Amino acid sequence: MTSPNPATRAEILTHTETGVLTITINRLDKKNSITAAMYSMLADAFEAARDDAAVRAVVIQGHETIFSAGNDIGDFLNTPPSTPEAPVFRFLRAISTFAKPVVASVCGPAVGIGTTLLLHCDLIYAGDNAAFAMPFVNLGLCPEAASSLLVPQLMGYPRAAELLLLGEPFTAETALEFGLINRIVPPAEANALAQKQAQKLATKPPTALMETKRLMKKGQVAQVAERMAEEGASFGRMLTEPAAREAFTAFMEKRRPDFSKL
Ligand code: COA
Repeated sequence: MTSPNPATRAEILTHTETGVLTITINRLDKKNSITAAMYSMLADAFEAARDDAAVRAVVIQGHETIFSAGNDIGDFLNTPPSTPEAPVFRFLRAISTFAKPVVASVCGPAVGIGTTLLLHCDLIYAGDNAAFAMPFVNLGLCPEAASSLLVPQLMGYPRAAELLLLGEPFTAETALEFGLINRIVPPAEANALAQKQAQKLATKPPTALMETKRLMKKGQVAQVAERMAEEGASFGRMLTEPAAREAFTAFMEKRRPDFSKL
């Protein structure tokens, strides 16, 4: 993975051992929120792993206390992603089309893309402190990462509507009940379990793994790409509109947003 800036690079850590690429989101002082530079590194990591036969499985993880607070809100205000080539969209394309298995370990808050990226992982282990949320509406935005398609498909429309229209956090137990995650463990054990499962996958024949994943996902590949593009266009436009500007400014000013005049 290449990055000219070591300080920035440390916010996404990568490490490959015995066939498993481990990607760690590592920006704890900002609750692992993800900047454009970090999306670029994530996209680079997945793109490089795609072509590297030494990588047979990927783990994506955060810290025991926080998976990710989602997109960096300052970035949303100052450098909103405006084209399909924006780093966030490059990352989403890379993870959603990744042929090898991806295992996620999620502890603490997983907000916005912190939850929706999980829709593109294969095995998901959560700490009992995990708190998922897709608060796009509360930010004047719409879903991304094809979540407007995949969340209703995964858990049924009424549950999806509650999570995507109200945008309230939900617990690991709810995520398990709704089929978003595989298992709940104590937070201190989540990364190790993800690693153990990825190591198991890495010993299996890669061609059989990739063909099985391809077949399971075949029915939705085109739809996912199409929905992601449509969401991306709306999301990019909505980022610059008054509701989102008010939501982001309120977050930066540590106050509640006021949508009453919109
Ligand atoms: N973008 C930029 N900075 C963020 C951030 C984000 N998405 N989430 C948290 N931070 C920063 C805070 O501004 C704060 O910075 P400061 O110390 O310089 O003031 C620091 O991280 C700690 O955040 P804080 O809110 O005090 O932590 P918390 O433990 O009370 O709450 C969260 C954690 C994740 C629940 C809360 O930070 C949150 O809701 N973040 C925003 C999530 C969001 O709306 N993301 C966008 C989704 S599309």
